[in-house]
Amino acid sequence: MRIGAHRAVEVAEIVKRSEKVATLFFRDELSSEAVPGQFVMVWVPGVDEIPLSLSHIGELCGVTVKAVGDATSALLQLKRGSLLGIKGPFGRGFSTSAKSALLVAGGVGIACLAPLARALKRSSEKVVLLYGAKTAQDLVLADELVEELGRSCVELVTEDGSAGRRGLVTDFLSQALDEHKPDAVYTCGPEEMMYKVVCTCLERGVWVEASLERWMKCGMGICGHCVLDNAGLLVCRDGPVFSGQQLLSITDFGKACRGPSGEKKSLG
Ligand SMILES: Cc1cc2nc3c(=O)[nH]c(=O)nc-3n(C[C@H](O)[C@H](O)[C@H](O)COP(=O)(O)OP(=O)(O)OC[C@H]3O[C@@H](n4cnc5c(N)ncnc54)[C@H](O)[C@@H]3O)c2cc1C
Ligand code: FES
Repeated sequence: MRIGAHRAVEVAEIVKRSEKVATLFFRDELSSEAVPGQFVMVWVPGVDEIPLSLSHIGELCGVTVKAVGDATSALLQLKRGSLLGIKGPFGRGFSTSAKSALLVAGGVGIACLAPLARALKRSSEKVVLLYGAKTAQDLVLADELVEELGRSCVELVTEDGSAGRRGLVTDFLSQALDEHKPDAVYTCGPEEMMYKVVCTCLERGVWVEASLERWMKCGMGICGHCVLDNAGLLVCRDGPVFSGQQLLSITDFGKACRGPSGEKKSLG
């Protein structure tokens, strides 16, 4: 078995999380050995191949996907027993050596942080998850993670106040840093959110890692499509997880990305 070759996997189970989000579970030996934060290239027959983080790593692996376009919408139409093509796992995942960790998730970014939360729960003294979304329905993995980490370790935030505290997740970051004094912060979500998290952590001298998303074609360091200016790092090979220090050298971070044809556009 090679990580760069397609493997056919059968969808073993589907858990619908909201109208637009579902987790698809499958069995795959290589994915079961992935590091939290790594991603797989998922080929949806007849549609497209797209990068998705592994939200569940174990005997049953899973991807938690939000329908935003053709491939992601097609994934949500699949049934138990449908076949997918999987390549990977690819990229560099999160470090897992923190004794006390704060995870900051925004929206479907929780998919990438969920396996990290589970791994840190086993290896660290303290894990706190600050998890924000637009509405209560968008807090798609909240119930599962509250059960796995414990209610006191999960702080929920919604923009409309329909669950947890009202506001943006970044509104509560400084307070969480003061209260929990983490030695590492891990973040995944909209890039503007991660930019604020990384800046705040670097100002305060706290180790921080963020998982970036860029348009990908090969997913394995060949096509150059996911390059980051001005550092020349490739998101699929050198990331998707980068340290705060690395992010400082990337002029695009929080500001710009490349579209499907390589054209540069500003974020937000
Ligand atoms: C490393 C990595 C991990 C990801 N993990 C997840 C995840 O766990 N769950 C999840 O729901 N989504 C995840 N994504 C985003 C996901 O890959 C895109 O939503 C998907 O490719 C969209 O494909 P589509 O055909 O449905 O939409 P399209 O019609 O192709 O595009 C819809 C929108 O999605 C974005 N997009 C499209 N293709 C890509 C791409 N290849 N890379 C980045 N953004 C893209 C663009 O903003 C675009 O406007 C991840 C992306 C990367 C790079
Ligand atoms: S997607 Fe091809 S080099 Fe990263």
